[in-house]
Amino acid sequence: MMNILLLGSGAREHAIARKIRESKLTDRLFVSPGNVGMIDSACCVDLGGDFEKIKRFAIENDIDIMVVGNEQPLVDGIADAFDSDEKTRHINVIGPKRKGAMLEGSKDFAKWFMTKYGIPTARYESFTVERMEEAKVYLTTLNPPYVLKADGLAAGKGVIICQTLQEAEKELDAMLKQSKFGNASSKVVIEQFLEGIECSVFVLTDGQSYCILPEAKDYKRIGEHDTGLNTGGMGSVSPVVFADKAFMEKVEEKIIKPTINGLKNEQIEYKGFIFIGLMNVKGEPYVIEYNVRMGDPETESVFPRIDSDIVEAFDLMGRNRLCDYTLKVNPSVCTTVMLVSKGYPEHYKKGKRITGLDKCTECTVFHAGTKAESENVTVTNGGRVLAVTALGTNMEEALAKCYSNIEKIDFEGKTFRRDIGKDLIELEK
Ligand code: AMP
Ligand code: GLY
Repeated sequence: MMNILLLGSGAREHAIARKIRESKLTDRLFVSPGNVGMIDSACCVDLGGDFEKIKRFAIENDIDIMVVGNEQPLVDGIADAFDSDEKTRHINVIGPKRKGAMLEGSKDFAKWFMTKYGIPTARYESFTVERMEEAKVYLTTLNPPYVLKADGLAAGKGVIICQTLQEAEKELDAMLKQSKFGNASSKVVIEQFLEGIECSVFVLTDGQSYCILPEAKDYKRIGEHDTGLNTGGMGSVSPVVFADKAFMEKVEEKIIKPTINGLKNEQIEYKGFIFIGLMNVKGEPYVIEYNVRMGDPETESVFPRIDSDIVEAFDLMGRNRLCDYTLKVNPSVCTTVMLVSKGYPEHYKKGKRITGLDKCTECTVFHAGTKAESENVTVTNGGRVLAVTALGTNMEEALAKCYSNIEKIDFEGKTFRRDIGKDLIELEK
């Protein structure tokens, strides 16, 4: 039996916590800071972001496995901090060290890595402010729309797509000269725009072998038919109809294998999740981005489809034996619809009372931005509030369960997209 510490507070972590709790290998489960939805299955403790405090907690509570839900602590070196201390070195950290986390923490590094290992991705070049004029010349070699990416972490907002050259030059100026994203945009990746449909692929690796988890598609824009502002995700579905055997074979051969081999060749020990954001361009996969964690809200549709024991996989990873793991995937379709606060992703109100959660059936409600106001009263506490997830024999059935439960849940300003998965249903016809 193992004691596990999970870091994070969103619906992604709620879905991970649930899966960890299901395992017969789990003894105690702590989540920092966690959320009110998890209190039945885990002990929520708020350790903040101080690595020394987290290490102390891990030692005192005899933690065997620490799963890092979010990229920031990984980019900041939490896995290095655990490994460099003899009192925490034995703890099996699921998440790469700082060097491996650069796959997400630096877009310039990720592009360099992909180019070196022949991994298909959009043509690009990186620029700092000293090369402003060259950057403008490079833009003229591309066709619109233009894709500008802040090199560093920018809370998911660092990618700007411009329709005209004029707009692109203005944005470039804002990023490089006016530090639009602070230090994160002191370097900017300019790349070719890829036309296609996106898909998220998730890999677990111990650095030697790898295991491909179910793929998913997320819905990023606030408005139906992918209109309006980008959000942290309005819904997700798994599996993805176009990610068929032939496509996934290409992903494995052209992307996953060279990624794992590239990490080995760079002597980057990597233990954790690799999330590959892909564009399907006429049947060919291209990498848009790497993340070093699971996706949100993809996890809410991916984890319920994993029938095998995820803690067994984590445990094997700690011993470099992931090759002994047999992943069992549920053939059902899983869909997730996010309930968000009115006004999100801009201004919205918090503290609205949530009702109807006890009436939900045939679905799982993962909490994102919620808070307990008193013992029996849960209120909204963020832009993304709840993820309503259901399994079905097909997408229509799973979605019908999500939407009928959404009718039962209420809070002032409840907002959601009614078209999650509809594009894939159309594609299937
Ligand atoms: P990222 O923050 O890297 O996930 O990028 C945000 C979004 O921008 C992606 O999910 C894509 O929708 C879009 N995007 C990024 N790079 C490209 C590209 N080269 N071509 C087309 N769309 C892109
Ligand atoms: N759903 C995209 C992400 O987690 O970055």
